[in-house]
Amino acid sequence: MAIESVGVIGAGLMGGGIAQVCAVHGMRVGIIDAIPGAADRAVASIRRRLDREVQRSRITADTASRAFDRLTTLETVEEVAGSDLVIEAVREDLEVKRTLFRQLGSAAAPQTILSSNTSSLPLSELAAASGRPAQVVGLHFFNPPYALRLVEVVPNESTSADTLDAALAFCDAINRVTVRVKDAPGFIVNRLLVPYIFDAIHLVEGGIGSARDVDQACTAGLSHAMGPMATADLIGLDTLLFISESMFEEFGEPRFKAPISLRRLVSLGHLGRKSGKGYFEYPAVEAGGA
Ligand code: NAI
Repeated sequence: MAIESVGVIGAGLMGGGIAQVCAVHGMRVGIIDAIPGAADRAVASIRRRLDREVQRSRITADTASRAFDRLTTLETVEEVAGSDLVIEAVREDLEVKRTLFRQLGSAAAPQTILSSNTSSLPLSELAAASGRPAQVVGLHFFNPPYALRLVEVVPNESTSADTLDAALAFCDAINRVTVRVKDAPGFIVNRLLVPYIFDAIHLVEGGIGSARDVDQACTAGLSHAMGPMATADLIGLDTLLFISESMFEEFGEPRFKAPISLRRLVSLGHLGRKSGKGYFEYPAVEAGGA
């Protein structure tokens, strides 16, 4: 089945970016969020990013305006469930996602593919909640989705071959690079990234180097495009905490245990780039992401 319409649930950092990528590549996209006005703000951010792409001559004005015209904000899960593919991108909370998959399972047409952008939660739990696990698959995009091309494609034990083929064809159609990964917390990238970021935070907490120096060491010394402290702020400190908690629960290894400063910053509402402050400060925060 070729995917022509996509429903995105959650209009935060990831949902907004995923909606943009799908619209640019010719798909009709409907987006919802639990917070009133959030989906409209995400669409406004997409407009600003598309305009920027036009100014930089990366896309034509025509491409941008067609992409924009393909975007709609919706109100209910039932409306989103009318798409060929649903991508859930709400906060990393198993109960919240389970509830949505239960609703989607009863509202969506039998052939609709249900996917989650979860970073660390078990796809099998969401598949079971939907009551139709053969049409459920993980599609883990990277932040920001319009700049990073990787998608980790995560079939659960019951995902049908048709669903997997359609998911891979969809990723191809939106010009993404895919890797196929088993349903295990953190998949490939976060399994490597989270302990690395936590080691960087421990260096800062121990006074070995400042956040800026740790990042400088990794960018200038390892040729990384971005240091681990700035990466933590980009991911969102709340999201990083949620991800690490489910990985720690699953593996029980200290390297997945969230450092104290991460917990404190999240308690204070300092969530990184999206809130204007995390390990660094971001004076001009644009609602709905960069
Ligand atoms: P975010 O905090 O920026 O956005 C989450 C959005 O979901 C918020 O706008 C919130 O209002 C909405 N929401 C919460 N419950 C909802 C519900 N029941 N129905 C509709 N909307 C609801 O979070 P972000 O960063 O976009 O993460 C979303 C998902 O993507 C998480 O599963 C996360 O693990 C995953 N992810 C995050 C990455 C990152 O770097 N931030 C990278 C890859 C995946």
